[in-house]
Amino acid sequence: MCGIVGILGKEPVAFDVVEALKRLEYRGYDSAGVATIEGGEIRRTRAEGKLKNLDGKLREAPHQGRVGIGHTRWATHGRPTENNAHPHATDRLAVVHNGIIENFRELREELTAKGAVFVSQTDTEVVAHLVTDLMKSGLAPREAVAAALPRLHGAFALGFIFGGEDNLLIGARRGAPLAVGYGEGEMYLGSDALALAPFTDRIAYLEEGDWVVLTRDGAQYFDETNTPVTRKPQKSQAGAYLVDKGNHRHFMLKEIYEQPEVVGRTLAHYVDMSAGKVQLPFDAPVDWTKLTRLSITACGTAFLAGQIGKYWFERLAKLPVEIDIASEFRYRDAPLDDGQLMIVVSQSGETADTLATLRYAKSCGNKILSVVNVPTSTIARESDAVALTLAGPEIGVASTKAFTCQLTVLASLAIAAGRARGVLSAEREAELINALIATPGLIADALKLEEPIAALSHSLAKASDVLYLGRGTSYPLAMEGALKLKEISYIHAEGYAAGELKHGPIALIDETLPVIVLAPRDHWFEKTVSNVQEVAARGGEIVLVGPQGASEACAVATLADVTMPEVPPDFSAIVYAVPVQLIAYHTAVVMGKDVDQPRNLAKSVTVE
Ligand code: AGP
Repeated sequence: MCGIVGILGKEPVAFDVVEALKRLEYRGYDSAGVATIEGGEIRRTRAEGKLKNLDGKLREAPHQGRVGIGHTRWATHGRPTENNAHPHATDRLAVVHNGIIENFRELREELTAKGAVFVSQTDTEVVAHLVTDLMKSGLAPREAVAAALPRLHGAFALGFIFGGEDNLLIGARRGAPLAVGYGEGEMYLGSDALALAPFTDRIAYLEEGDWVVLTRDGAQYFDETNTPVTRKPQKSQAGAYLVDKGNHRHFMLKEIYEQPEVVGRTLAHYVDMSAGKVQLPFDAPVDWTKLTRLSITACGTAFLAGQIGKYWFERLAKLPVEIDIASEFRYRDAPLDDGQLMIVVSQSGETADTLATLRYAKSCGNKILSVVNVPTSTIARESDAVALTLAGPEIGVASTKAFTCQLTVLASLAIAAGRARGVLSAEREAELINALIATPGLIADALKLEEPIAALSHSLAKASDVLYLGRGTSYPLAMEGALKLKEISYIHAEGYAAGELKHGPIALIDETLPVIVLAPRDHWFEKTVSNVQEVAARGGEIVLVGPQGASEACAVATLADVTMPEVPPDFSAIVYAVPVQLIAYHTAVVMGKDVDQPRNLAKSVTVE
C-alpha cells in the first residue's frame, strides 16, 4: 500500500507535499519522491528510505513549482531503490500510483515495441508511457488519461501532472481510495483525508471507477464510462482522530471497500510480482519437507480462514492438516509431535484462547508460525515466525479485510510449502500466482454488486433463520457468511456443507427459510448445482451466489441471483468473501443494528 498526494497551490508546493506524505508514511516508507512543474518542465526529486531523506534533498535543491505530486512507496514491483521510487515520468508527464497493474507485462512489451524506453522495474512506469503514447497520438492530457484507464487491469489509484500545465492535476481510483481536498484557490489529491488534514477539512471521495480533473477553480468528476458525475465535498473528521470512515457510513463498509488495496498490499509482501513466485519475507521456522502434518488454530473468523487454508495446504502442499478452534484445542490434550508446525491465525494477536493454544503447542515442541495483523501483539511476540497481514487497523468488530488478508497469506504459505515439498510444479505455481495477482481486481469487481445485494437484504431482514451452503472452500466460507450475519444482524444463521444437507438439515427447508448458496465455478460447482436443485425441490428460498450462467445451470427459481465475476477456481474464497460480507452488512443496516459495535461483542476477546 503506498501513499499518494497532489497539490495545485498558489505558492511552491514541494514542502507541503512532503508534509502530507508524512501523514501517509504508515502506508509505506521504503522510498519517496516529489515531482513538480517548473517553467513548463517536469522536475523530480526522489530518495530511498524514509521521508526525511527526501526532505533533505529538497532542502538542498528546493522546487519552485506550484503544482506537484508526491508518493511514499511500499514496493510491490521492483526493489525499493531510488530508480524505482515514484513519481515515474516521461518528458510529457509524471505519475504516482498505489496498487497493482496486473497486465503491466503485456503493456510494457507493447509500449517497448513502440519505442518506449523503460528505466525501472515497476508496473507504474507503464502508466506513464501509456498516457504519453496516447498524448503523442494527439490526445490532450484528460483525454489521454480517459483512454488509458480502460487498458489498465487491477486495483489502483493514480495521480498525474503534465508538462506545460501549471493548472492541472488528474486523479483516478479503481479499488484503492483517493480523496479530493478543497482549499481557498488551491486543490488537493490524497490517498485519504488524513493526508490533506493540514490543508483542508473539505473532502470529497472518488467512488469506484471515478477519475477527476482538478484546476485551481475546482474539480470535475467522471465515472468509469467518462460520464460527468457529482461528488460533494463533506467535512472530514480526519483532523479529529487518526482513523475516519472516509465516505462510508460505517467502519465495516469502509474496511470491506479497502480489501482490493490491502489484499494487494499483503499479496505483494509474499509474492515477487516480477518473477511470478512466492518469496516469503521470513525464514520458515521448520523444514517443510520434514512435516508429517500441520496444525492450525484460531477463533471465529480467523478460524474459518484457517479452515479454508486447510484445503489449500492439503491440495497444494500434500500436507495433512489438523485444525480446531482454539478454545477446544487448548483442552483436548491433542498429541502434537516435537518439531512439527502450528499455524496460529489472529487479527488482533491477543485472543486468549488462541494464545493459550499457542503456548500448549510450544510446550509440545511445536514451532509456531503466526498469521497476525498486529506485529507487536502478544501472539506475534511469542511466535517463532510471523506472517503479517497488512490489512491496516480494523475498527469494525466484524472482521472483513483481515479475513481476506489472512486468506491471502495462507494461500501464499501453501504455495511456498508445496514448492518446498516438491509437489508443486513451476508451471502450476505460476498459474496459482496469476490467480492470486488477479484477486484484488476481482474483489473490486465484486464490490460493484453492492446495489443488488442491498436490495436483497430487505428480504433477508425479515427472516428468523438463514442457511448458508457451500462445498470445498465454500463450506468454511458459508460458515463465515453465517457468522457475519449472526454477529451484526442477530439473525440466527448456519453454514453447512452442501453435500451434508440431505443427512438431516434438509428437513428445515421450506419457503420461510432463505438458503444462500455459494457456487463459484470451481472443482465442486456441478455438485453444488445438484444441491441447489435439492433445495428448490423442497420450496427453499434460494439466493444463488455464482458466476454468469450458474442460474441457468441450476434451472430453478431463486429469490435472487448474485452474479459474480469469473474467478480462477483455486482461490475463489478470497473473492466470494465480498458478497457474504455485503449481505450481512446490508441486512444489519436494514434492521437498524449497530454494525460497527454489535451487542455483546468485543473486537479482541482477551479473556477465556
Ligand atoms: C469476527 O467477525 C469476529 N468478530 C470474531 O469471531 C473474531 O474473528 C475472533 O474473535 C478472533 O479474533 P482474532 O482474529 O483477533 O484472534
